Amino acid sequence: MQSVLILLGPPGAGKGTQAVRLSGALSLPHVSTGDLFRENLKLGTALGEKARGFMDAGRLVPDELVIDMLFDRVGRADCRGGFLLDGFPRTVAQATALDARLGGAQVRAINLAVEDAAVVERLTGRHTCRGCGNVHHERFSPPAKAGVCDRCGGALYQRPDDSRDVVEKRLAVYREQTKPVEAHYRSRGVLSEVDGARKPDDVYTALLRAARGEVR
Ligand code: AP5
Ligand code: MG
Ligand code: ZN
Repeated sequence: MQSVLILLGPPGAGKGTQAVRLSGALSLPHVSTGDLFRENLKLGTALGEKARGFMDAGRLVPDELVIDMLFDRVGRADCRGGFLLDGFPRTVAQATALDARLGGAQVRAINLAVEDAAVVERLTGRHTCRGCGNVHHERFSPPAKAGVCDRCGGALYQRPDDSRDVVEKRLAVYREQTKPVEAHYRSRGVLSEVDGARKPDDVYTALLRAARGEVR
């Protein structure tokens, strides 16, 4: 049976940071809709061009564009046994479309909770790798050499949507459109809560336990 793990939580909660480790430990491919859009932008595709304005403004890309892109990705062979979702679903309509697509798959959603003030601190200090998408933080996980990715040696940059005003907008959009997705999974009895405010290693341990169904 397909096993699908969904990471929910505000922007900057640490979804990407944790998904990279969890993906390895659980042998589930990491599928991030934000990363997929950024790849499209880098390649200059029509989809990337359509998404750019929404992303730069901190708004959600329209559901139909996201859903088509996501279904295309999870339809590939590596996702046959399951996958780990980061940044999807972000609206109740996306969650409903995913349900219909997955049928009887085994689904677990984990909400990674972090307060707004910490989100702002994390995102305005984040440095992302242009090469591999790895993230550093200027204070919380600085690279060994300034401006250079520890993992691949690529150049680090600050995402245009990580400016303070766009982060505030993303948080408002999260509260309005994404927060209701939690209730969608809670009502199905498949939602776990993990405190994302702790050290990355502690968050990871808690996520792994929740993913394995050891705790609720
Ligand atoms: P996306 O790229 O998904 O952005 P996001 O949800 O806003 O999340 P982030 O990537 O900003 O944060 P994260 O939780 O991954 O945190 P990270 O691990 O990097 O989406 C971007 C845009 O694309 C959206 O705004 C939208 O326009 C569009 N989009 C994407 N999906 C969509 C969808 N489904 N529908 C519609 N539109 C969509 O960590 C953040 C920082 O904190 C890092 O610097 C990290 O080093 C640091 N950090 C991590 N953990 C800790 C810790 N425990 N303690 C201290 N620091 C930490
Ligand atoms: Mg991310
Ligand atoms: Zn890199």
